[in-house]
Amino acid sequence: MTAHARRIVRQKLSDEPNAGLAADVIAGLSAHPKQLPPKYFYDAAGSELFEQITQQPEYYPTRSELEILDAHAGDIAKLIPEGAALIEFGSGSTRKARLLLRELRTLGAYVPVDISGEYLHQETAALRQDFPQLNVVPVEADFTKPFSLPESIAALPRAGFFPGSTLGNFEPHEASAFLRHAGEMVGANGVLILGVDLVKAPELLHAAYNDAAGVTAQFNRNLLVRLNRELGADFDLSAFAHHAFYNAHKSRIEMHLVSARRQRVRIDGASFQFRAGETIHTECSYKYSVDSLRCLARGTGWDPLDVWTDAAGYFSVHALRRSDEV
Ligand code: TRP
Repeated sequence: MTAHARRIVRQKLSDEPNAGLAADVIAGLSAHPKQLPPKYFYDAAGSELFEQITQQPEYYPTRSELEILDAHAGDIAKLIPEGAALIEFGSGSTRKARLLLRELRTLGAYVPVDISGEYLHQETAALRQDFPQLNVVPVEADFTKPFSLPESIAALPRAGFFPGSTLGNFEPHEASAFLRHAGEMVGANGVLILGVDLVKAPELLHAAYNDAAGVTAQFNRNLLVRLNRELGADFDLSAFAHHAFYNAHKSRIEMHLVSARRQRVRIDGASFQFRAGETIHTECSYKYSVDSLRCLARGTGWDPLDVWTDAAGYFSVHALRRSDEV
């Protein structure tokens, strides 16, 4: 290969979409304890598996949140200004947004933001069919980092929609940073509709993340399937087990992959040693009370406007308005 060709290959490698993935994975597995960023769960297969989780009998959050949105979509719609762009962070199946969209006849645009491009484009096509009047403006982006909104919606008033208790998948300092950033995105007087899972009996929480059909386990392990495929890693899938439990002290579910034995895994030229029983921490799902969430919101520039819960009191949907002081 000529020096010129080598330079081109090197450039290609560094602009590769997987450059961020490789760097994040190597950093995460070099840390003590080992960890991987949860956003990498959501490749096309992971997004599908997540949809299956939401249908498991033990996984109550989706059903509880849909119950709330179905009952209160009219009240929620009244808080969203006419002609606004509704920005959804991590739109996934768009099932929840549809309940709001039915009530939002005068929306300027619906802007689903998702990291899984394939899934996003499939959902956009379905929405355009089902809501022919609606202006759907999809944005393929990692919403945990700053991203820009399309020019076409720059002049519209904005509202945010962040369901699914995805806020709970952030560490508290990341949740604060996200809420501040969302405030900047929606601008003065902007509204945020935020779905957050509530603290409850540990048995119910434990069951939700350990469904009997093993779909959550498969979702967790799919992260390793992805690293094998996209980074040429050599994880032995049968040697890592799903482990999820409620850490009451920290009000969070922790999800781990546990190494069944002492083993070594190679990824992208690097090599990682695992002790028997050593875990990779793949995700947290923090649970809030209505008050603890409101306290977090106030501290990050939001005024609580309203809150709704389901009949069982499992889940909460908050309406927040950006406060003037920030
Ligand atoms: N944010 C949701 C929750 O924490 C959904 C979710 C994210 C999830 N990752 C998951 C559910 C892994 C089950 C397993 O509950």
